[in-house]
Order: sequence, then C-alpha cells, then structure tokens
Amino acid sequence: MNLDAAKALLEKYGQTQLLDYYGELDEEKKAELLSAISQIDFTAISGVDFHAERQVGEISPADALSLAEVEAGREEFEKIGLQAIRSGKVAAVLLAGGQGTRLGLDAPKGTFNIGVNRELSIFGCQMNNLLQVVEKAGVYPHLFVMTSTVNHEQTTEFFERNAYFGYDASKIHFYVQKTAPAFSFDGKILLEQKHKPVLTPNGNGGWYSSLKEAECGRIIEEAGIEWLNVYGVDNVLQKICDPVFIGATLKSGLACSGKVVRKVSAEEKVGVLCKEDGLPSVVEYFEMPTVKKTLKDADGKLIYCFGVTLNYLFSVKKLDEVSANKLPYHLATKKISCISGGEVFVPEEPNGYKLECLAVDLVKLMGSCLGVEVEREKEFAPVKNMTGADSVDTARALLIKNGVEI
Ligand code: UTP
Repeated sequence: MNLDAAKALLEKYGQTQLLDYYGELDEEKKAELLSAISQIDFTAISGVDFHAERQVGEISPADALSLAEVEAGREEFEKIGLQAIRSGKVAAVLLAGGQGTRLGLDAPKGTFNIGVNRELSIFGCQMNNLLQVVEKAGVYPHLFVMTSTVNHEQTTEFFERNAYFGYDASKIHFYVQKTAPAFSFDGKILLEQKHKPVLTPNGNGGWYSSLKEAECGRIIEEAGIEWLNVYGVDNVLQKICDPVFIGATLKSGLACSGKVVRKVSAEEKVGVLCKEDGLPSVVEYFEMPTVKKTLKDADGKLIYCFGVTLNYLFSVKKLDEVSANKLPYHLATKKISCISGGEVFVPEEPNGYKLECLAVDLVKLMGSCLGVEVEREKEFAPVKNMTGADSVDTARALLIKNGVEI
C-alpha cells in the first residue's frame, strides 16, 4: 500500500491520525506503518458503535440436562462419547490467547504455578485431566491451542519445556489468534509507537476463524474431525473431551452444547445460559437485568440458574455454515499505553477500548445449545483473581478437595 492509498482509506474511515507522525519516520518505519494500515480490517471495525451498549434481546430461561438426567444416561452417553473419540471425530481447542490482566501476570495464564508443594501449572492441571480421557479411550485427540501475538512464544516454549505434559506432541497444534486495533473513547485508533497502531488480541470469539485460516483448518479436514470441544484456560478442574458430555450432545442431535453449573447466588459473576429472543444465548452477568437475575421459583431456587463454564462442544459442520456471519465486536474499557502529543503516554485510568469478539456470541449463531449440568465442586474452579472469589485460593482449595496433590 502506498501513501496515497493509505490516505484515501483512512479518510474514508475517519482515521487519518494514524499518519500524524509519518513525516518524522525513516523509510523503513514508513513502510512498516503502511503495511500495518493495510492489514487492518476496516470493514469489520467500521460497524462498531462507540456510543451504544450491547442491546440484549428478550431474555427467557433455558433448560439444561440436570445432574440426575445426566446420571441416568451416563452409561449410554459415555459409550457414544468414547466411540466418537476413538474414531477421531472429536478434538479439543484450548483458548489461551487471553492476557490474564486480573491476575496481573507477565506470562500466559496457563503457566501460572497453582501448586504449593510442587510445580503444577494451570496448563499442567488441564493436561492431566485430558490424559485421563486418553487413558480411557486409548487415543490422543488432536488438541489445538490458540495463543495470541503477545504470548505465543512463551506458551509454545512452556509446553516444550514440560515435554508436552506427557501428551503426544504430534497431536498438539498451536495457532495465533488475530488482532484488532485499540481505540480512544472517541473512536480513533491509537498508536503504540509513531509507526505502529496499537493491535491487541481480538477476544476469544475469533477462535474458529483464526483456526480455519491457520494450518489447523487443513488438519480438521484431513483428520475428519466433526466436533470441537472448546475450553477456557482458567478453570483448573476443566474436564476436556469428557465422553459423557460428548455422548449426551451427540444423542441430542443438537449442533452445540455447553457445560453449566448451578449458580451459587444471584450475584455470582458468571454468564448464564438463557434464551434470547427465543434462541439459546449466553447473557453476561452485567447484562442481565436485576429483576431477572434474582427471580426465584416456588421452591426458592433461581430461575436463571445455569452458569456457563467456558466448555462447549461445537459441530464443525454447523460452524462452517454459520461462519460467514461476522461476530460483533464488543468494547472492553482498558488502560492502553499510546502516543499522545508525540510522547508515550502510560495511563493510570482506562483511556480507551480494546475490541473483542466473544465465544458466547457463537452459541447464539449455532441456533441450538444443549446445557449439560455438571457438579460444580468437581468441575468448576475458575482462576480469575489472586484472592477472593474465583481466585488462586479458591481453586487450590477445590483441587485439594478433588484429591489433586498441589
Ligand atoms: P477472560 O475473558 O477471562 O480473560 O478469558 P483473561 O485473559 O483470562 O483474563 P483477564 O480478563 O484479562 O483478567 C476467558 C478465556 O478466553 C481466553 C482466555 O485465555 C481464557 O481462556 N481468551 C480471552 C482468548 O483466548 N483470547 C482473548 O483475546 C481473550
């Protein structure tokens, strides 16, 4: 892209400030800046409304297979699930592109040592859980690990240094999620350096499009993978490729499912599996109106009770059908270091937005979602903060309760 083309493009989208320092740059940096501008997907970001909150549709409760129903079908579900795993139809996708800002880490969240008397990383915990399935099924499902430009090297090195946690390394495939520009509150793309727009990981919702574009898309096709079990890095009790969950989904004939736990309180900060305008949808805790959040049935139980655990099973066929639909970008208010008045500015308060696509929006696109209730104490130990709720402390306590040596 040459300077004239860049100017025309930026004028069209009201982003000419990206060229504010162009005249000060040497030739190499000029070329770098033009190349960076050419790689920004302006059509995708032009629809972002910097002044509007997300409009949540009409919310109603969603049903889920209860613990008792799962228990009643366990034997049959497990058989179906194991068969699917053994025939290579199921792969796992670990979403590890997040920045773990709440933990205040300078490293990928999965590398965090959750152990006390021994080294036990979050990645290690999850791989141990996956290895239990390997033992039962007798095969290693493919595992795709999504990283970001920020943590890719550290993540791949960590897996290598830990000998892939005893997993078949030929079945682990890393890929990098895409980035999106960061904006000031008035919708202008920020510069990290005079020749570099601020580009940050574009949220966990882009996992499938990034996966398809990477070499991994070919692996899925060649290996005949039909189901992807997508999970977040921050639950140390995450059960991955769980045959019972897979079997229950396959038996239901639906194209998508999610593991859910009963919320402990109306105020718990967890997304809830609901229906939105009649379609399955995950509504974030901050989007749910208080009257709905606190609604109880005649027995005093929460009506909107199914919290999601970021453990979903998606049909590849259906994902391909819906992937032409672009996921909306959400605005995340953040502190973003940037160039201001020609100098590097490190803010102490949030000064702009990062753009994020959310995996939960995919659920809505799938058109159906089977909620499958799992035992909270056995499968849900999120690590979001150092202390307090959903923290390193609570996760450690739950690991001990589940007999994991830490
Ligand atoms: P969170 O939204 O909890 O973010 O991610 P986080 O990065 O773990 O933590 P905070 O909010 O910065 O403190 C939920 C899951 O989505 C992944 C994370 O790695 C985690 O597994 N994720 C998040 C990505 O893969 N990419 C992203 O851009 C954001």
